[in-house]
Amino acid sequence: MHRAQNLSMASVILFLFLSFTLFFTALAQQRYSNISLGSSLTPTTNSSWLSPSGLYAFGFYQQGSGYGIGVFIAGIPQKTVVWTANRDDPLVHSNATLLFTSDSGLVLEAQGQTTQVISTSESPYSASLFDSGNFVVYNSDRHIIWQSFDNPTDTLLSTQRLEANSRLFSAVSQTDHSTGIFRLVMQADGNLVQYAVTTTVTTKDAYWATGTDGQGNNVTLNLDDDGHLYLFNFTGFNIIKNLTDGRYPTQKTIYIVRIDFDGIFRLYSYNLTQNGNWSVLWSSTNNKCDPKGLCGFNSYCVLNDLEPQCLCLPQFTHVVQNNWTAGCERNFFPESCKDDNGDIRIQELTNTVWEDNPYSVLSLSFKEDCERACLEDCDCVAAFFKDRQCKKQRLPLRYGKRDMGDSNSALIKVGKSISTTTDRVEPGKKKSDQLGRGILIASVSIVALGLVMLAISGFLLYKSRAQPYKRINANENIVLCEEVAPRSFTFAELEEITDGFREEIGRGSFGTVYKGLVSSTQKVAAVKRLEGVVSQGEKEFQTEVKVIGKTHHKNLVRLLGYCNEGPNRLLVYEYMSNGSLADLLFSPEKRPCFTERVEIARNIARGILYLHEECETQIIHCDIKPQNILIDEYRSPKICDFGLAKLLKPDQTKTFTGIRGTRGYVAPEWHRKLPVTVKADVYSFGIVLLEIACCRRNVDQNLPEIESILVDWVYHCFEAGEMDKLVGDEEVDKRLMDRMIKVGLWCTLDEPSIRPSMKKVLLMLEGTVDIPVPPSPTSFLTCI
Ligand SMILES: *[C@@H]1O[C@H](CO)[C@@H](O)[C@H](O)[C@H]1NC(C)=O
Ligand SMILES: *[C@@H]1O[C@H](CO)[C@@H](O)[C@H](O)[C@H]1NC(C)=O
Ligand SMILES: *[C@@H]1O[C@H](CO)[C@@H](O)[C@H](O)[C@H]1NC(C)=O
Ligand SMILES: *[C@@H]1O[C@H](CO)[C@@H](O)[C@H](O)[C@H]1NC(C)=O
Ligand SMILES: *[C@@H]1O[C@H](CO)[C@@H](O)[C@H](O)[C@H]1NC(C)=O
Ligand SMILES: *[C@@H]1O[C@H](CO)[C@@H](O)[C@H](O)[C@H]1NC(C)=O
Ligand SMILES: *[C@@H]1O[C@H](CO)[C@@H](O)[C@H](O)[C@H]1NC(C)=O
Ligand SMILES: *[C@@H]1O[C@H](CO)[C@@H](O)[C@H](O)[C@H]1NC(C)=O
Ligand SMILES: *[C@@H]1O[C@H](CO)[C@@H](O)[C@H](O)[C@H]1NC(C)=O
Repeated sequence: MHRAQNLSMASVILFLFLSFTLFFTALAQQRYSNISLGSSLTPTTNSSWLSPSGLYAFGFYQQGSGYGIGVFIAGIPQKTVVWTANRDDPLVHSNATLLFTSDSGLVLEAQGQTTQVISTSESPYSASLFDSGNFVVYNSDRHIIWQSFDNPTDTLLSTQRLEANSRLFSAVSQTDHSTGIFRLVMQADGNLVQYAVTTTVTTKDAYWATGTDGQGNNVTLNLDDDGHLYLFNFTGFNIIKNLTDGRYPTQKTIYIVRIDFDGIFRLYSYNLTQNGNWSVLWSSTNNKCDPKGLCGFNSYCVLNDLEPQCLCLPQFTHVVQNNWTAGCERNFFPESCKDDNGDIRIQELTNTVWEDNPYSVLSLSFKEDCERACLEDCDCVAAFFKDRQCKKQRLPLRYGKRDMGDSNSALIKVGKSISTTTDRVEPGKKKSDQLGRGILIASVSIVALGLVMLAISGFLLYKSRAQPYKRINANENIVLCEEVAPRSFTFAELEEITDGFREEIGRGSFGTVYKGLVSSTQKVAAVKRLEGVVSQGEKEFQTEVKVIGKTHHKNLVRLLGYCNEGPNRLLVYEYMSNGSLADLLFSPEKRPCFTERVEIARNIARGILYLHEECETQIIHCDIKPQNILIDEYRSPKICDFGLAKLLKPDQTKTFTGIRGTRGYVAPEWHRKLPVTVKADVYSFGIVLLEIACCRRNVDQNLPEIESILVDWVYHCFEAGEMDKLVGDEEVDKRLMDRMIKVGLWCTLDEPSIRPSMKKVLLMLEGTVDIPVPPSPTSFLTCI
């Protein structure tokens, strides 16, 4: 015991010693204020020249498996790169050498090749790295012939300025310092503006500006050593605009401004005495969806926990998976560009703003008129409706982002029987996989030339205006999927598929589920034998099945087929290998971690939202509960049994409402014989959400009475500010937990009309909109 302790003590000391020596060998360069001709650096030994105080260094810094060359802050643990030479050249290997010579200045020798690192018009004689971080090259008369402060990359240091007609370019990422996609331009008109790199320098491509145009042709951006960031008129020698007031501490603190890889321009400070971290003192915006160009063509930006995400327009998919700037392209072409045979419809993206570039503007009072106008016009791919203006658009659509404060509705033309409204990029999933499962294209195999031509001409037109846009190639974009309408099976076939209904895998309110193997596709299926179904005509059954068959969403279980023979009513679904959400939540060994649970909750909300608002026929599920949420092989949730409520016998619906007095998943309006609306699903979802948050059942008689009903217990804890009681010793993100609890409480209010819509629920769960403090669950009961 003692020995072991001593040993571990010794290893800690050894470790500290090693880290110490490593740290110092890394900095084992001589302090060079003067760099003379003939000096050299290599990535592994003598890798940089330090400024007199040792704060800044010029030389090699590690990037990935290679090295970059530049100026970096060496005196802090986060070796922050502030200037990069030849930033778009390939990284150099460890056997390269940086040489300071009189004839060609600073050059890099690697593998027999010589590359210029700094070009000067005169022969250099010496160089210095100052404690300001400025790297300066002199001629023999000790005149400055080059300095890094005049050639900024993405960062300005204090006392450095950005002259009129100069610009900063963002880096690709936090760790890759090559040129990224955003720029900050100090314009000759006095305006400081941010643009995406790929665009022209015109107002509509700008996403931030100081609005100081017309202030003279010699305005510069300056950063002082007290964090004062301002625009200065060099002609009149006056401050034109303060971006910060400065007056921050000057001792032991570094300030830098940088156009970050995410497109936002930020002022940072670093407290050298604390050895802490960079902190942001000011930024051009706090909304990470603001930088235009983050999301490429035909996609729009939404914030998820304040982090941006690019979503494709409905029926579009990402051109390159996980590359947002590449944008999205159509994956489907209806047979006709007009709504002649009901092949197309409009899908609405509310509260989204886009580049304003219509080819036609109509004055129309109602959104429906705008939808019709677009449906009847072959040129129209989308229309924006706001303030009684209907603006028809061609592809591509640009600069989309969700803005809850803007009433604009984007009306997007889509093929009729299609899905993938929420085409989210999920890392780790192949595109083909997503296509196969998500985008199920109706039996459309013939491409109407009309729309393709339209798309292509639209893009050609665009191309002539701007820059190349990925060519829309019809063959590339049409995804021919399995036939979509659920197929009809005979009872005998299903008997064979299930091997005589041998393996029972579940039993629910609608019947028993059996495992089966469809021999034609070799796919495992779940066959549900419906019980208590209204003995209605075959036609009604078929109608309902069609409605279910037309719903496609990645968070809904797919219906593959059905059987409608004599008294037999069966449904064939895709098989979900990971059981139900109930198995996952309520068995301790399978319990997902908190962040996974948050994502599961959001995905369930997306599935319900689709049923309520995005599919062709609105579907109220009526029976949302963890047993009806299945988990696929990627542990993603899929809702099942939707659309079945309509098939139930009326007397069955009564028992369905559960036992009076228990708070089940069933909304109170069921008991009160009030009309049941989508808000009943919102209620049930709220209960499920609280179960997901707390990882326990809605009703648990084994717990003390005060805790036994989850909703009441949650409200009790919420009111008392004792939310930590809800999760025991589990480590959870308090902010997210608070959000789930509040949304759950809003959803489970007794009064349906004040429960939020699923859309609102999703926005609240994603952190896009604020969540007001929920009232007591029964506070509106008396009003009914
Ligand atoms: C650097 O070089 C200049 C001129 O070459 C000289 O005057 C100065 O003293 C040198 N400084 C140091 C620290 O060597
Ligand atoms: C590093 O630079 C110093 C000073 O120029 C020199 O004396 C030393 O030999 C160099 N070390 C290596 C390994 O090149
Ligand atoms: C330098 O390293 C690279 C990559 O490791 C190698 O391909 C190259 O041959 C090396 N050059 C010399 C001169 O050793
Ligand atoms: C602009 O100001 C700079 C000082 O930063 C000065 O050197 C330059 O001559 C000025 N240019 C004009 C056109 O006034
Ligand atoms: C900038 O300086 C010039 C020269 O003094 C002056 O005419 C101009 O009004 C100044 N601009 C502003 C915005 O102060
Ligand atoms: C800008 O800030 C400086 C220093 O904080 C102050 O002296 C000056 O009055 C301010 N100017 C404007 C235009 O706000
Ligand atoms: C830096 O940290 C020290 C020690 O915590 C503190 O006294 C000082 O006020 C801090 N400076 C700034 C600029 O925050
Ligand atoms: C500094 O910030 C980064 C990113 O926010 C974080 O990953 C890191 O842990 C922080 N370091 C310290 C010492 O706080
Ligand atoms: C993403 O796509 C854009 C546009 O097609 C391309 O320029 C860029 O190199 C891609 N980025 C990555 C990381 O592949």
